[in-house]
Amino acid sequence: MSPTEPAAAPSGTPPRPTVVTLGAHIVDVLARPVEAIPPGQDTVVVDQVRVTAAGTAAGTAVTLARLGNRVVSVGAIGDDALGDLLTAMMARHGVDVSGLVRRTDDQTSASILPIRADGGRPSFHVPGANLTLAASAVDPGLLAAADAVHVGGPDVAFGLNDPAFLDALDAARAAGTIVTMDLLSNLPDLVAATAAFLPHVDYFLPNEEQARAMTGEDDPERAARALLAQGPKAVLVTLGAEGSLVVSAEGAHHLPALKVEVVDTTGCGDAYCAGFITGLLHGRDLRESARWGTAAAATVAQGLGSDACLTDLDGVLALLAEE
Ligand SMILES: Nc1ncnc2c1ncn2[C@@H]1O[C@H](COP(=O)(O)OP(=O)(O)OP(=O)(O)O)[C@@H](O)[C@H]1O
Ligand SMILES: [Mg+2]
Repeated sequence: MSPTEPAAAPSGTPPRPTVVTLGAHIVDVLARPVEAIPPGQDTVVVDQVRVTAAGTAAGTAVTLARLGNRVVSVGAIGDDALGDLLTAMMARHGVDVSGLVRRTDDQTSASILPIRADGGRPSFHVPGANLTLAASAVDPGLLAAADAVHVGGPDVAFGLNDPAFLDALDAARAAGTIVTMDLLSNLPDLVAATAAFLPHVDYFLPNEEQARAMTGEDDPERAARALLAQGPKAVLVTLGAEGSLVVSAEGAHHLPALKVEVVDTTGCGDAYCAGFITGLLHGRDLRESARWGTAAAATVAQGLGSDACLTDLDGVLALLAEE
């Protein structure tokens, strides 16, 4: 089936919304608990090692699929074993990987994350093929046919900062597609350059550090207002364990994080985006969609890796009902 065909659905039920995720695709290898690199050739036995499809496009894609959306992911990966693994993991979760291009000169992006007992998450990262994603890899028709497009990591997929891609986002929005955006890195130069996308997106969801790097404002609300002035309908700044700040023309609203037993917060921002987008596609308003994002993030925080503990939308919404 081509990615632009409507989803097959039992007669009488509407097709599931289609979301296109676009940008960073990363293989995460995680271990916990790890306090230090052992000396010499020593081996330390740990409780758990996992591998996941992660990154601001692939990780969000997996969570979106788990939440019941049809998902097509667009990005650049290597023509290597990591790329085979990444596509297999995404497909296993039901994500359509036909939009991934494979590079022979660059490896699939990957991270090794030794997670501390307290949830701390240092990482070793190879950007790899993510840096090579170009506007030419994106089919404008796919974007315009989608219910939502999530631009995940234009700070590393800087080839998307191209009039052809920005025009495609505008055409998709004119056709009724919701456009959301999140960033991958905290590198000031890369993050600052993504301001060019702001007039072309509806909802921007940076974390606190990214919002600060883009605006020079230390205060998240001031940073969010400065970003809002550049075009989006709303800016949602995630604040880690402090929750998130939802800022729109209607004002600013702080949403606390849910109180859960935290194991590892890797991918919480990606899950937040996936829950938020799912809320919007279910017709929820800005604040309620942000609550769905908060609940999706709190769900994945309870296990190791960006897709941990997240089975379906009902499970995520049950967490909200417990509040
Ligand atoms: N310790 C925690 N307990 C409960 N919820 C959390 C915790 N940490 C993060 N969250 C939830 O996850 C959301 C996103 O977290 P955060 O701000 O760390 O995103 P991020 O830096 O983009 O993470 P990543 O890029 O790894 O996905 C927060 O707004 C909050 O709702
Ligand atoms: Mg993030």
